[in-house]
Amino acid sequence: MRAGRMTPAQARGWQEGFPRFGLNLQSGPLDWDATFGFAGRRIVEVGFGMGDSLLQMADADPTAQFVGIEVHRPGVGRLLSQLLGAGIDNLRVYAEDAVEVMEHCLAPDSLDAIHIFFPDPWHKKRHHKRRLIQPELVHELAALLKADGYLHLATDWAPYAEHMFDVLDAEPLLTNAGGRPGAGVPRPDYRPLTKFEARGERLGHVVQDLVYRRSN
Ligand SMILES: C[S@@+](CC[C@H](N)C(=O)[O-])C[C@H]1O[C@@H](n2cnc3c(N)ncnc32)[C@H](O)[C@@H]1O
Repeated sequence: MRAGRMTPAQARGWQEGFPRFGLNLQSGPLDWDATFGFAGRRIVEVGFGMGDSLLQMADADPTAQFVGIEVHRPGVGRLLSQLLGAGIDNLRVYAEDAVEVMEHCLAPDSLDAIHIFFPDPWHKKRHHKRRLIQPELVHELAALLKADGYLHLATDWAPYAEHMFDVLDAEPLLTNAGGRPGAGVPRPDYRPLTKFEARGERLGHVVQDLVYRRSN
């Protein structure tokens, strides 16, 4: 499907779901407890795609506050349309570039977790600069975490995993939960196995989970 083209269900998600579950850059710094109506752990997912795993995680952990950020509008529409019927009230979404949301809406030392699952690998060398995981962005992500909050990345593209390890191991605000540089962790139970991932596994791709804690 071309970017921007939506199914009727996704369009309905936007129309009916965005007023209820959508967040805007223009509203400025996010007041989490006022938005959700309760206090809880604060978890952000960057690039949730079609939102399936984010929806499952929010459903499985109703005492936590989940915020998803995704630029792909049909994906946002799909998550919103699913939220309409789901009775899940601990999930809100930005249809924005995560860099903008980080800059305008999220406060330093405020998040319990940041998830980035299967970010676009940009296979060709000349496109590597488009990869989301870069030293500057990772430093800004780390600074948003509370002490002992964590950043969790997953990828099935081994060369991107290597790049992620290099960038994260070099970030002074983070410590590898795998215990040493270059070490991944077993998939934590809270991260559902996605269809995307199951397909990758059939193609023989090994999935790496990288978890890093805010250390200072
Ligand atoms: C390969 S997809 C993976 C989606 C999903 N996490 C999954 O596992 O199926 C990567 C997603 O990241 C989104 N994305 C890339 N850069 C982004 C940014 N700066 N802000 C928000 N979303 C972004 C893309 O639109 C895309 O949907």
